Amino acid sequence: MKTLLKNIGNLVGVTDASVTRKAGEAMWNLDSFSDAWLLIEDDRILDFGRSHELTDVFVACADKIIDMNGQWVFPSFCDSHTHVVYAGNRAGEFLDKINGLSYEAIAKRGGGILNSADLLHATSEDDLFEQAMVRVREVIAKGTGAIEIKSGYGLTVADELKMLRVIRRIRESAPVEVKSTFLGAHAVGRAYQGRQDDYVGLVCEEMIPEVGRQRLADYVDVFCDKGFFTPDDTARILEAAAKWGMKPKIHANELDVSGGVQVGVAYNAVSVDHLERTTQVEIDILRDSSTVPTILPGASFFLGMPYGNAKGMMEAGLPVALASDYNPGSSPSGDMRFVCALASIRMKLTPSQAINAATINGAAAMELGHAAGSIAVGKLANFFTTEPLPSLAFFLYAYTTPMITAVWHRGQAVG
Ligand code: NIG
Ligand code: FE
Repeated sequence: MKTLLKNIGNLVGVTDASVTRKAGEAMWNLDSFSDAWLLIEDDRILDFGRSHELTDVFVACADKIIDMNGQWVFPSFCDSHTHVVYAGNRAGEFLDKINGLSYEAIAKRGGGILNSADLLHATSEDDLFEQAMVRVREVIAKGTGAIEIKSGYGLTVADELKMLRVIRRIRESAPVEVKSTFLGAHAVGRAYQGRQDDYVGLVCEEMIPEVGRQRLADYVDVFCDKGFFTPDDTARILEAAAKWGMKPKIHANELDVSGGVQVGVAYNAVSVDHLERTTQVEIDILRDSSTVPTILPGASFFLGMPYGNAKGMMEAGLPVALASDYNPGSSPSGDMRFVCALASIRMKLTPSQAINAATINGAAAMELGHAAGSIAVGKLANFFTTEPLPSLAFFLYAYTTPMITAVWHRGQAVG
C-alpha cells in the first residue's frame, strides 16, 4: 500500500537514513523541504522531495493521494523519559508546594513517590492500564510517536511486575513505539524504611532476576540523587541488571550533583537524565562517552528548579535530548511541544535545536535513532501534521494554540 502526501507546506526534520543522532553543532540544522511531497509504503517512508520534482511515476504508483493544502509535516516527538503508568494524581501535593513545602520535604514526610506507590498498590491492573492509556492517548494526540515508560511506583516485587505488565500491554495496544524501563530503585519501599541496603538487595536479588526472566524491561534506571540512592547503590543495581541485558538510563543530578553521571557513564548508560545541576566536570565525562544527556525542563518548570545547561553541553559537542518526565510528582504533563517551548524560552535553544533534541536525539536516548526521529527514507512513517505555519518559530512561540491536525503512526493516520 502506497500513500502520497502532496502539497506539503514544509516537510520538517529531513535527514539521511544514516543519521541516528545529532551532536553539538549539527543540532543547529533542522533541514526542511518547503513545498514538498512524501511517499509512504506500508509502515515506512519510501521517498520524499520538492513538488516541482514530483514525477508522474510517483503519482501513478500511489494507491492513495492526499492533498495537504500547505499543511506542515514534523517527525513525531520521541519522549525518552516518562512515568505515565501511575494511579490517581498528586494534586494535594501541588497545593502543599504552593504553600511552601519543597519536593524533598514532601518525600521526607512519606509523601511523594511513596504516596503514588500506595495508590498504585490499591489499584487493579486493569484500572491502572486504563488510567495510563488516557495519558498515552493524550500524548499521542500531542505528537508523541515513541515513548519510554518506567516502573517505579510499585516498590515491591509484585507491584513492580504489575507496572511492567501494564507497560507491555501499552506497547501491544497503543499506536506508539514503547520502550520499558525497570525503576525499582525509585525510592525505598515502605516496608524497608530505614533499611536502604536491604531494599537495594531486594532490587538486585529478587526484582531484577524476575523482571529479566519475564523479559519485561529493556532498560534499568536508578534515582541516583540526594536523599534517594547513592552511586554505590546504583553501581550494585547496574551490575545486577547487566547480567540480564538491561542497559542503564539513570536519573542524575536533579536535586544535587549526585555522582549519577559518573556511575552512568562507567556502566555505558544509554542516557543520563535530568542534569539540572550539572557542572563542567560531568560535561567533560559525557564528552568521552556515547551516553545521551537528557534534559527535562518540565520538571524544572513545575518544581522551580534550575534549568539544565543545554547550551554548555551542545558547545561541548554533545547530543542533547529533551524529554517530558511525565509523572505525578514533578512534571504532570507530557506535552513535548511545551517542553520544546520551555527549552527555547528558558534554556535559549533555537526552535531547530529544541526540535532536534525532542525528535532525533530523543530517539537516540531509547536506541531508536535508526528507525525514528527524522523524516528519512526507510525510517518508520511516524509523523504529525499541523496547520500551515508562518514560520518554524511560531510552532513554539504560540505554544498553547492548537495546531496539530493529524497524527500518523507506521504509515496510518491514527488521530
Ligand atoms: O523524574 N526524580 C525522580 N522521579 C520523578 C519524580 C517522581 C515523582 O515524584 O513521582 C522525576 O522527577
Ligand atoms: Fe523521571
